[in-house]
Amino acid sequence: MDLSEGLTLLSMFTLNVGLEPTAAENQMRYAAEQKLRNEILINSTTSMPGRGSNPITAITMLHVDHLRDLDQSKGTMSMSLSFLVTWMDERFRWDPKDYHSVKSVNGDKPSWSSNFWVPNIQIADMPSSQKSPGLFQNAGVEITVESSGTVKAFVRTSMTIPCYFNFGDFPRDFQNCSFTLFSPYYADEFQFNDWSTINSGKYGTPDQVPDTGDFELIGMEARNYYLFLGTQIVENFKGYSPRYCRGFLRYTLMLKRMNKLIPTLIHAPMDAISVFVGLTGILPDQEALMTLISCIGFLMLFAMQAAEVLPDNFNGMPTIGILIMVMMIETILLLSYKIFSIYCRNRKLKAIRGKIEDPFVEQIYKYIKIGDRALMVALPVQAAWNVYLTRNI
Ligand SMILES: *[C@@H]1O[C@H](CO)[C@@H](O)[C@H](O)[C@H]1NC(C)=O
Ligand SMILES: *[C@@H]1O[C@H](CO)[C@@H](O)[C@H](O)[C@H]1NC(C)=O
Repeated sequence: MDLSEGLTLLSMFTLNVGLEPTAAENQMRYAAEQKLRNEILINSTTSMPGRGSNPITAITMLHVDHLRDLDQSKGTMSMSLSFLVTWMDERFRWDPKDYHSVKSVNGDKPSWSSNFWVPNIQIADMPSSQKSPGLFQNAGVEITVESSGTVKAFVRTSMTIPCYFNFGDFPRDFQNCSFTLFSPYYADEFQFNDWSTINSGKYGTPDQVPDTGDFELIGMEARNYYLFLGTQIVENFKGYSPRYCRGFLRYTLMLKRMNKLIPTLIHAPMDAISVFVGLTGILPDQEALMTLISCIGFLMLFAMQAAEVLPDNFNGMPTIGILIMVMMIETILLLSYKIFSIYCRNRKLKAIRGKIEDPFVEQIYKYIKIGDRALMVALPVQAAWNVYLTRNI
């Protein structure tokens, strides 16, 4: 027996795949499965399993299949999700030995009895709909019943969820989008398992999720909490009776802006303006004046362009906005100084030529000379500093 043969055998053992079943065996299995379906149909009731004993616990795993559209002005994101909800229904239990080794039966929701109990799980925080849609009211629900009584419901759905936008760090901002699953049952009957929290992190590995526009999914978090008498949020039942608590499972998706173009759109003009403002320290008067006036014009245009890149209603002044404002004020002050400096120097020149006393100029001229020299050094240094700042917003 060579290696590949060995591997094939090994995988057959581990996957629990029987060696090529005969036609007759297939026939018998099919019959067993039909019998099981029928029994499950008979055993189905609309009442909740496990009543009177421990509460039903549902393990909910979330997988983000695809982020589709992030609407920054509405503050919503549309995405395709899959949920795998697992619970125990002890009314369905069989010994596979009695059913030709059939260990599980599955089918889409309509193929099961309408009496088949599924937990009432609702999705909260949906901006697009008034009432909370039920998780299992979706078209794409696939249910598997296992011989242990484990029921697994796989739901494929798409939804639009709210995101809490904060553009303060734009264009290096992070956004969180959240939604909540809840059920109308009290916690003595039904709970979301704490494992949901751990598993969804693992199950929802973000690597394969395509980016949505500017954003990339960088993390996912699930938190289990209870609402006591509809008023107080509690983390656990310490001091609270489960009879009066309802379970909630809150998912938070963390997104990071990844647009490669935005830094270029912002860096290039900012750098150019910084350099030109820096140059005015060493340019002759006329050119310096023209350059400063052009820079103010460019800054205004740029502020308008940046405002367009940003969504309409955002909270938090973006750093880039503050930088533009600071540069605008600085340039206006520089322009005022420059005009004043030119005025003083002209007056001084006039005084020398006309051989007249001008006490105002005599007083101010030495400061103007110092000021002009200082700007010659300070402005280019400041330009470099601005370029550095822009790199780090
Ligand atoms: C249906 O219920 C009966 C009686 O409780 C049980 O013996 C049987 O195993 C159940 N069948 C299935 C398929 O769950
Ligand atoms: C997003 O959620 C995470 C986890 O809850 C939190 O640590 C982070 O501060 C949130 N970020 C924003 C921008 O709200």
